[in-house]
Amino acid sequence: MKYDTVLADVRAAVAAHSDSEQIMRRTVDTLAKSLPHYTWTGIYLLYGNELVLGPYVGKPSPHERIPLGRGICGAAATEQATIIVDDVNNDPRYLACSVETRSEIVVPIMKGAEVLGEIDIDSDKLAAFTADDRELLEAVAALLARSLTLPA
Ligand code: SME
Repeated sequence: MKYDTVLADVRAAVAAHSDSEQIMRRTVDTLAKSLPHYTWTGIYLLYGNELVLGPYVGKPSPHERIPLGRGICGAAATEQATIIVDDVNNDPRYLACSVETRSEIVVPIMKGAEVLGEIDIDSDKLAAFTADDRELLEAVAALLARSLTLPA
């Protein structure tokens, strides 16, 4: 299973570092390199009521800070649940990052009941994200929740 290999690669990358910035950097690099349908791969961290963009692979985003109530990112953090959008042009919550983006998955990084941040992936393919992507990214989010040490 390709996804098992990707998870093992992320686990190895995370285990090789203790610094949170490097852990997040290696995680997004590994995901983006392994899964070509991940056109933009990033991690946002929650500071107060704002999601702040951390390491990413892809074009620079105009949304470096997203208030909790806004976008698909804000919705996933508020609902504390994974959101998959098959066609971003049909979702009124969507904040555009690139005109080529067609679908998106956002997976919260949860420590108990607390949202630390989230993994955000865009694809140029319509309905690119399957149950396998959800399973992989929720496992990666759990790994990050255990591994990141973030300022309070
Ligand atoms: N599309 C996101 C904004 C972040 S960019 O995709 C990097 C959203 O709707 O919240």
